[in-house]
Amino acid sequence: MNQLELIRALPKAELHVHIEGTFEPELMFAIAQRNQIEIPYKSVEEVKQAYNFHNLQSFLDIYYAGANVLVHEQDFYDLAWAYFEKCHEDHVMHTEMFFDPQTHTDRGIAFETVINGLQRACNDAKAKYGISSHLIMCFLRHLSEEAAFETLAQAMPFKEQIIGVGLDSSEVGHPPSKFERVFAQAREAGFLVVAHAGEEGPAEYVWEALDLLKVNRIDHGVRSEEDSVLMQRLIAEKMPLTVCPLSNLKLCVVDDMAQHNIRRLLQQGVHVTVNSDDPSYFGGYMNDNFVAITEALALTNEELKTLAQNSFEASFISDAEKQKWIAEIQAL
Ligand code: HPA
Ligand code: ZN
Repeated sequence: MNQLELIRALPKAELHVHIEGTFEPELMFAIAQRNQIEIPYKSVEEVKQAYNFHNLQSFLDIYYAGANVLVHEQDFYDLAWAYFEKCHEDHVMHTEMFFDPQTHTDRGIAFETVINGLQRACNDAKAKYGISSHLIMCFLRHLSEEAAFETLAQAMPFKEQIIGVGLDSSEVGHPPSKFERVFAQAREAGFLVVAHAGEEGPAEYVWEALDLLKVNRIDHGVRSEEDSVLMQRLIAEKMPLTVCPLSNLKLCVVDDMAQHNIRRLLQQGVHVTVNSDDPSYFGGYMNDNFVAITEALALTNEELKTLAQNSFEASFISDAEKQKWIAEIQAL
């Protein structure tokens, strides 16, 4: 089997995808129209032309604007269902989706509306395609600690449907330490915890995510390589990094895919996984990310299998399920 065939054949888990970042322009237009909400673009082409980012913030401004057209439960269902169709095409068999409740509740949309739409799509994906999923709610780190506490309180009635909490949005200037107390309360309530750190922010933010938030995984974390003591810690603890290659390229975290450090991290023994982050905005879903790094970095079949295996090992599924997927990967 050549590498492209193997990428398609491998069962994969996605651990870093923002459901609002899977919003394709065509669907955005359709939902805007049926909800009679104005968007600042005349055509799908014009939307795509706006997707020229120079850093994280320039992306976030457009990403939050797009999410504004989501109002009804059916809108959230349609958004998630479109993503599950992509998972099915890419043989992603398990996904742990981020959603940003504050992006919606701050516009007067009920928490329940968001979660009911997403959950119904998750149920249908399991029934139709055998794809399992978990939901992770993220706090927007540019907003206050108090707002995060409020969001955590709103989530409590839906605790059984939310496996964990995360931290996203503008990283620099909003270190993990800002949310130490919220994360302590979330862990106390039984949520697993993850956080974006070391995407644009320094290695110091990865230390904080580990020591103060006590995360189960680091989202991105590619700047950890700048700190050799941190690298030793990540390797020793087998701490997963959910790396997003096309995102890093589009947001200018790297200038060129050939300079991406995912293969170096893998070779040094860091538990890295491949993910799409905001695939509608960054030019590709799971397999596109695998193809991009395979071509730029000359990954071997063994490395591709390790990346797929890592994705299940780092996921929040049961050990029995992990073993089942790993056996399937090793048989390829
Ligand atoms: N980083 C931080 N916040 C985000 C991202 C990201 O890549 N995508 C959506 N929100
Ligand atoms: Zn992200």
